[in-house]
Amino acid sequence: MAEPAVKRVPGRGRFITFEGGEGSGKSTQIRALAQRLDAAGLRTLVTREPGGSPGAEIIRHLVLSGMGKLLGPDAETLLFAAARDDHVRTVIEPALARGTWVLCDRFSDSTRAYQGRLGQVTPAFLDAMQRVTIGDLKPDLTFILDVPVEVGMKRAAIRRGAGAPDRFESENLKFHQDLREAYRQIAAEDPQRCVLVDADADTATVAASVWTAVRDRFFKADVGSMASLA
Ligand code: TMP
Repeated sequence: MAEPAVKRVPGRGRFITFEGGEGSGKSTQIRALAQRLDAAGLRTLVTREPGGSPGAEIIRHLVLSGMGKLLGPDAETLLFAAARDDHVRTVIEPALARGTWVLCDRFSDSTRAYQGRLGQVTPAFLDAMQRVTIGDLKPDLTFILDVPVEVGMKRAAIRRGAGAPDRFESENLKFHQDLREAYRQIAAEDPQRCVLVDADADTATVAASVWTAVRDRFFKADVGSMASLA
């Protein structure tokens, strides 16, 4: 169904990130949200981490191959940071400055969860990396897609088909259970920014929750633009 056109609000775009464990359905939900925003007349950019720029995609390949793990947790964190630095500088910041809405599959919460809470890289190290790579850039809204580990692992295995599990998919069940807990904690610690979504529901139900949160956050008070969207 066509959405009514949005009255363009000039200025900076919005930065929305999607986080969650393996098989939590982030990519599907990002595509669904991008379609709704596009249909409403907004310019969107869908991107991902690690990756999203030519340089960062090379690092993605390196990290997911398991190369970073061989170097140890701090060095692996530096690889994610280098990828993020390039991605933010060459893709995310310029897009936001043009007024584009940036929808990013994973961002700094992934580092906090995977390298911080699970990899035991210290908060001081992560803070230092964050200052260098993203400075004051903070997502305007973060969806944390929460799904039981068994469900997520099954979805990830189906998606992978005959391919081998990557660096993180091949971690054990306990790792993925702790990861789910880490994300739930991040959501609880920053309720202003984070929305925890039950991602065990069907795709359309999850997409509806995401859309409601976006509408409430960005358009409810904006009378004359999207306030009338159903
Ligand atoms: P995905 O994009 O297919 O989810 O794969 C990216 C993997 O990289 C995922 O297992 C999470 C991991 N990751 C980190 O460990 N730290 C990070 O900062 C980011 C962005 C991803």
